[in-house]
Amino acid sequence: MCGIVGYTGQKDCVEFILKGLTRLEYRGYDSAGIAVMEKGRIGVRKAKGRLKNLKNLVEDNPLKGRTGIGHTRWATHGEPSDINAHPHVDVNHQIAIVHNGIIENSYVLRRGLEQKGIRFISETDTEVVVQLFAYYYKDDMLNTLYRVLPMLEGSFALGVIDQHRPDTIYCTRKGSPLIVGESKEGNLIASDIPAILEYSRDIYFLEEMEIAVVEPAAIRFYDEMGNFIKKESSHIDWDMEAAEKDGYAHFMLKEIYQQPKVLADTLNHYVDLEKMAIRREMMPFSPSEAQALDKLTLIGCGTAYHAGLMGQSLVSRLARLQSECDMASEFRYKDPIIEKNEAFVVISQSGETADTIAALRLAKASGSKVAALCNVIGSTIAREAHQLLYTVAGPEIAVASTKAYSAQVLVLMILALDLAHLRGRLSDEELKAGLAELAALPQKAEALLEQKEHIQYFASRQFNCKKIFFIGRLLDFYLAMEAALKQKEISYIHSEAYSAGELKHGPLALIEEGTLVMAMTTQHHVMDKMASNIQEARVRGGTVVAVGSSPTPELRAVAEVWELPPVDDRFAPLLAIIPMQLFAYYMALQRGCDIDKPRNLAKSVTVE
Ligand code: G6P
Repeated sequence: MCGIVGYTGQKDCVEFILKGLTRLEYRGYDSAGIAVMEKGRIGVRKAKGRLKNLKNLVEDNPLKGRTGIGHTRWATHGEPSDINAHPHVDVNHQIAIVHNGIIENSYVLRRGLEQKGIRFISETDTEVVVQLFAYYYKDDMLNTLYRVLPMLEGSFALGVIDQHRPDTIYCTRKGSPLIVGESKEGNLIASDIPAILEYSRDIYFLEEMEIAVVEPAAIRFYDEMGNFIKKESSHIDWDMEAAEKDGYAHFMLKEIYQQPKVLADTLNHYVDLEKMAIRREMMPFSPSEAQALDKLTLIGCGTAYHAGLMGQSLVSRLARLQSECDMASEFRYKDPIIEKNEAFVVISQSGETADTIAALRLAKASGSKVAALCNVIGSTIAREAHQLLYTVAGPEIAVASTKAYSAQVLVLMILALDLAHLRGRLSDEELKAGLAELAALPQKAEALLEQKEHIQYFASRQFNCKKIFFIGRLLDFYLAMEAALKQKEISYIHSEAYSAGELKHGPLALIEEGTLVMAMTTQHHVMDKMASNIQEARVRGGTVVAVGSSPTPELRAVAEVWELPPVDDRFAPLLAIIPMQLFAYYMALQRGCDIDKPRNLAKSVTVE
């Protein structure tokens, strides 16, 4: 949730760190800070609020040095404030640290230190860590880390600077990601790749409890036991442009518009479009594994969970394979029954969501095969799963997920077709026809984006509404859930997703004159049912928009229709989500919301 960046080299570190923090602002943004080794002493600047406050502070009161660490925060312990912002320093001002994660036993540790006479100035768990470092420090920071880290319960990614070794950054991690980047201009640490991509493409991913000692011209790695280890770097070939807004007003809009390309790239990754054949080597299950499966469970959080719901429905329907989708935050505590021939797909854009990592580990521990549907190669989830199902979406910066969701759903559609084929539920011809339908989606998505003005106009009339219902049946219900999430995340309008058939069992009581009802109507075999449900809402004063392709006259009679290009029902939600994303975007824009960084949210939730 928070972001870390650090630099040590021959150049002034402040510019490197502030630039890195700018790229990380989407991770957390209620305060930010920087600590720099200035002529052997640690200088610190911290500011509550957006990063620009820190930048102003550093401009008014400059810092200069070649080694430093920075942080952008999303508060967990202690309110957002200058004091609670990172970096934190010990009482003697000799050590400074930045921290992502939560130290779960910080209260006990703090009490222990207070009894020894140490005075704390912040409310954070992070200050406990730096005070522990100072208390147990003898003559070397590396030894101190080995002494203190076993005392810490919870999760952490830590960057540490120490006055005794002014050109060195120490870093380590447990449960929160941390990377080290090598460059000609010096070496860097960061919580996420985009923070340092401008300077380094050769990245080392720290494993749990490994320690890196980062100096201007050398990086040394040690394992948990203190043994020196050799690590290989990974070359990252993301396009730098991909981390910029490219002339769009917001990252979210850019990412919505990237979807036709993302769909095409992801499709190409899994399907040989000339032969209309699935690339076997990309799929997680061999023919014999697919046939032997008794159950497929999908797991994720937030938008990834919604993609999973879509996936489980398609897998059950097409492959006639029992399939469920769980929220990762529930799965880890529900003592799940795991079948002998059960496999898992954990879904995560970032690959770093704490609950999803825990679910993955639980599933792996049961002996099941676990595939990760993930957008970040090298992330914890991508590395720990037995197989990576990569979404070729490029870096997603806006907090509200759009293109990563589409890529996840597309991969799950391919997986469902593959399983159906391998389990004898689809003939070769039917598989090819299904893949051909998928291959047509990017172009149809492009055409849909051209309808943006209409949606923008609709939003300009509706943006003051107090609540919105999103309704649908079957796949459309899961689509409604994602559409409602987008709306509440960025426009802060109370949005509720409801299964259309359930409307009359309660929520109808909330429909009054002018209540906005967005009806997802992509599933033709229940379109008549949907028309009835819409009518129920309409006669109570609801204003209804129906989203779907080839609407029936009955549907047209009861709702304003936002028409999709003709599309196979099984894959239609992938198109229908696009107008819903644009709708949320324009509602938020009209309401003056901070679209890319909505209040109280963070892009990747690396704490429980
Ligand atoms: C946060 C984000 C959501 C995202 C969810 C899961 O809540 O705000 O947009 O869907 O985490 O993230 P993941 O990286 O695991 O897909």
